[in-house]
Amino acid sequence: MLHLIRQDFGSDFVWGAATSAYQIEGSPRAHGAGPSNWHEFAHVEGRIEGGHHGDVACDHYRRSSEDVHLMSDLGIQAYRFSVSWSRIMPAGTGRVNPSGIDFYQRLVDDLLAAGIQPYLTLFHWDLPASLEHRGGWLHPQSPRWFADYAEVVARALGDRVSHWCTLNEPWVIANHGYVEGIHPPGKQDVHAFCRAVHHLLLAHQEATAALRAANVPQVSVAVNLTPQHPQTDSNADVQAATYRHAYVNRLFLDPLFRGQYPTELRRCFGRASDVWREDQLDCERGGIDCLGINYYLRNVVAFDPHGLVKAREVQLPGVARTSMGWEVYPEGLQEILLWVRATYGDLPLLITENGAAFEDEQLEQDLVIDQDRIRYLQQHLIAVAAAIRAGINLRGYFVWSLMDNFEWSCGYSKRFGIVRVDPSTQQRHPKASAHFYRDWIQDADASRVLR
Ligand code: FCB
Repeated sequence: MLHLIRQDFGSDFVWGAATSAYQIEGSPRAHGAGPSNWHEFAHVEGRIEGGHHGDVACDHYRRSSEDVHLMSDLGIQAYRFSVSWSRIMPAGTGRVNPSGIDFYQRLVDDLLAAGIQPYLTLFHWDLPASLEHRGGWLHPQSPRWFADYAEVVARALGDRVSHWCTLNEPWVIANHGYVEGIHPPGKQDVHAFCRAVHHLLLAHQEATAALRAANVPQVSVAVNLTPQHPQTDSNADVQAATYRHAYVNRLFLDPLFRGQYPTELRRCFGRASDVWREDQLDCERGGIDCLGINYYLRNVVAFDPHGLVKAREVQLPGVARTSMGWEVYPEGLQEILLWVRATYGDLPLLITENGAAFEDEQLEQDLVIDQDRIRYLQQHLIAVAAAIRAGINLRGYFVWSLMDNFEWSCGYSKRFGIVRVDPSTQQRHPKASAHFYRDWIQDADASRVLR
């Protein structure tokens, strides 16, 4: 029996929910917005499961006030959302679109009026299409483009948003876009991958400098961290896990905090990694106040001479999985938090995403009884509490996601929301997990016993 004690979290711990622009907004071309790379990619046949796209999504662009009310009813204290670059700057550089600015100013004003803290992410994967056409993250000017955009957004919202995040999951942008080819620009090219990685790091660095110049109080970046465990204790598997760990977890954090790329990866990528110029990395300029961590699962890996970093993922039989096929492994959250502190120091941390997609959710009248999701959240809250007891400097937790939305290459087939969105009416129905989360947030003195 496990005890989950709400008081462990302290009274200033922040309880939030997260979404991102392309996954929920819809109306991608409304009021002068330019197309994004995701808009174009999703409209290429065969790219997205079911031929889905974000044209309507959760219609949040037209329902943002309603969604703020919804969050307020659920007692949510902070909302992590992303800004669509191509709404703000339709061509990615140059002209600013006032209607785009208006939309986010209204959203932020509604949030503040409802007592909900806005946590703004500048880039959650939707790049203006015209920049993608010019080479996207492979273009040497891409860090400059991003910094200019950051400056525009900071000028518009810097007076009312305290928490700023530059990039969401740069590893996914690079790996899925340039190695696996399942996200835009759909490439499978290690040279392009290495170049994109470096430019993303410089983009974070330059945008951070722009945000500092605009005096925003808190700058962060959100990384996905996933423990990599060897399948056996053979030397080969252990080495494979070490390489995968360098690839998934250290690729961005080592340069960010130490100004150095992992040497294991240079060995794997050879000449392709010549673009990783450490003299261009400036840890002070790119320094953050807080690190955002997105945590979902762990990977088990085995040696594979043909694998990208001489490793491949192994699916352990008989373990609990979500409908993404991701292993439910709450212990990994504490493991990763302890590893971050031991490796990079005792900086403030935020869980910027954690949650799960499940199928076959039982529906009683309008209520989805998503027992699996409640269990997942409870197990991960226990891990978070254990980390706090171990002295980890954790400031908040954001559930992914506020509502069912466009899950990238899976389209709408995977539902992560604590709120169900009826695709035909767009009506929002809080699931049982939303009630659980609301009670959990409100019940500050509760001591719960989980079985
Ligand atoms: C993360 C993404 C988020 C969502 C979740 C399930 O990698 O940041 O947009 O897709 O996974």
